[in-house]
Amino acid sequence: MKFSSPRGTRDILPEECDVWRHITNTIITIFQLYNYQEIKTPIFESSELFQRAVGDETDIVEKEMYVFEDKGKRSLALRPEGTASVVRAYLQNQSTFQKNKLVKLFYSGPMFRYERPQTGRYRQFYQIGVETIGSQLPMIDAEVMAMGVQIFKKLGIDDITIAVHSVGCDVCRPVIRERLKDFVASILPNLCTDCQNRYEKNPLRILDCKNSDCQTYFAGMPDMVNALCHECNDHFITVLNLLEDNKIKHEVDSHLVRGLDYYTKTVFEIRSSLLGAQNAICGGGRYDNLISVMGGRKTPAFGFAIGMDRLHMVFNQLKLSVPDKAGIDVFLIGLGTVGQDKALKIANVLRQEHIHSEVFLKSNSVKNGIRDAVQLGAKYAIIIGENELENNHFTVKKLEDKTQFEIKDIQELIDRINK
Ligand code: HAM
Repeated sequence: MKFSSPRGTRDILPEECDVWRHITNTIITIFQLYNYQEIKTPIFESSELFQRAVGDETDIVEKEMYVFEDKGKRSLALRPEGTASVVRAYLQNQSTFQKNKLVKLFYSGPMFRYERPQTGRYRQFYQIGVETIGSQLPMIDAEVMAMGVQIFKKLGIDDITIAVHSVGCDVCRPVIRERLKDFVASILPNLCTDCQNRYEKNPLRILDCKNSDCQTYFAGMPDMVNALCHECNDHFITVLNLLEDNKIKHEVDSHLVRGLDYYTKTVFEIRSSLLGAQNAICGGGRYDNLISVMGGRKTPAFGFAIGMDRLHMVFNQLKLSVPDKAGIDVFLIGLGTVGQDKALKIANVLRQEHIHSEVFLKSNSVKNGIRDAVQLGAKYAIIIGENELENNHFTVKKLEDKTQFEIKDIQELIDRINK
């Protein structure tokens, strides 16, 4: 029986990992420029955490979560996103995260959602994100968004658009909800059963419906921004002005509500036209109520997550390159047990000198060894046969020009490579 990776998952093969690592390192360098510190949280958490944080009526919790019971009969879920876990960790480690200090954290890793797989949409996908906890100022919204833009620029990705919107707060959300319901009432019979169910419970979620038939009925919907309270409106205007001041091109997307219930005020997405239907490479926003909903003091926060799989797709489509990876310097071909043993010992000496070395351990054939060395792109091959062992010297082949020379001890080769 042949096994393949589960539907919606994939292997990220070495070449892709090289690109992935370059992207990750670039992003982390920028996070660190802004003073973010890394946090690692478990891949699974209590399923209630996500119900409470992301919202019972979201697609993510209602339909897409991988929930399972462990042997102790606890209901756990593979994390569908990172924010809930970071907030949980923030609250659980209060002695580390002092209350009155701005806490700036970044994280990365796999997330899991049982979605219908398609290009750019997986059941196991990877995010790298930030959470900034402790400031209600609109400058934070603008700065964090600007950092997102800086990341794409640094990676050489210019073709992005930033969609921004505000989903209001506890004060104006009821008004927004009522206006939305007024509009939806006339189109309700045409919408899917999910939308119909959400009409009473959580009408804002209707805008997040993935059914393309429903989407066609949303045209002409009143802009929710007009229903914002004074505070949310001021906040939104300030954010837009700050983006303008910082020359960050953006557009207000009146349909943008995001698929998670914890947002208040600013929400945003960074999209790429190279991605097709799943065009969001980054999404985030402000969540000023989440920390209190999870049992903490009311603490404002703002964050985003970049979808690594989609970012990688864009990177490839633009044929962007990664800095050259260090290749193999020396390929050692030892013949017989004694030759192979010597080859392994020399390789260890070379590696201690930071010289990338590989040992041929497949057969006793010099021809095959040289073939593998060439395939690997090694600079030098060293053959260690009986003759070399007896006479205590090594034959070195420079593979680039096929020249050959002999050395008495390995230090000679180290000096040559280091030169
Ligand atoms: P999200 O929009 O659900 O937000 O996910 C962020 C990004 O993850 C998306 O823009 C997309 O690039 C990627 N993504 C999401 N689902 C998939 C999937 N099935 N396959 C591939 N990529 C996917 C959040 O998760 C929030 N926690 C972001 C946040 C942080 N908000 C505040 N802080």
